[in-house]
Amino acid sequence: MIGFRRKTIVFFLATIVLAILVIFYEPVLIAEAQSSTPTAAKSSPPVAYPNRALSAFPAQLPPLPYAYGALGKAIDAETMKLHHDAHHASYVKNLNDALKQYPDLQKRSVEALLVNLNSVPEDIRTKVRNNGGGHLNHTIFWQLMSPEGGGKPSGAIAQEINQTFGSFDTFKKQFNAAGAARFGSGWVWLVRNPQNQLQIVTTANQDNPIMDGSYPIMGNDLWEHAYYLKYRNRRGEYLDNWWNVVNWPQINRRSQLSSQQPR
Ligand SMILES: [Fe+2]
Repeated sequence: MIGFRRKTIVFFLATIVLAILVIFYEPVLIAEAQSSTPTAAKSSPPVAYPNRALSAFPAQLPPLPYAYGALGKAIDAETMKLHHDAHHASYVKNLNDALKQYPDLQKRSVEALLVNLNSVPEDIRTKVRNNGGGHLNHTIFWQLMSPEGGGKPSGAIAQEINQTFGSFDTFKKQFNAAGAARFGSGWVWLVRNPQNQLQIVTTANQDNPIMDGSYPIMGNDLWEHAYYLKYRNRRGEYLDNWWNVVNWPQINRRSQLSSQQPR
């Protein structure tokens, strides 16, 4: 009788211990599974989107983190509405259309597709490059701006900009000059390059620096759709005013992430 009771108590305690393990350990397993989402043939491409790789399918238009008119110090409401609701939305739609017939590619992130473009079938490669890039670039771009933005950089990025470029003013001048010099449509970026150094680069069309092994910390959109309604052909004026809405806390976060990327 006593033996039976002891067995019952042992069984009861073991069940409780097992339940506790399941309750506390399951979220860890789920988080690990989510963080190791299948990507591409190449191992661990740099993640350009904070916290997670951007889902390629179904790609979704992220909501603007502020009102259309909230960035008035640099960009008017009509431009923001068109830019987000029409231009970014069409990159999302076209990316989904391109991947519709390719279930294997749908499992990859946008970053993984862009890093391994050669593994994307030729008939949709350009479409994935342009629209995957457009989706990724704009998703990053909305977060790089804030109604409370502007001013001088703060935190670790301020120090690193000073060390790399001499001063914030010099960095700003070089960034704007690179943006002005990019012929046609494209982007100007501050990246962390494969040598772990800050560098200003430009990309054509909707290409993203991850395609060259660099991590985009901040970037400005040089397409006319980003500024033409308000600034017409005065790209330089737009580049100058854009600094009034730059979201330095977000750029600090991205810079910190960039130095944690596998190289
Ligand atoms: Fe754009």
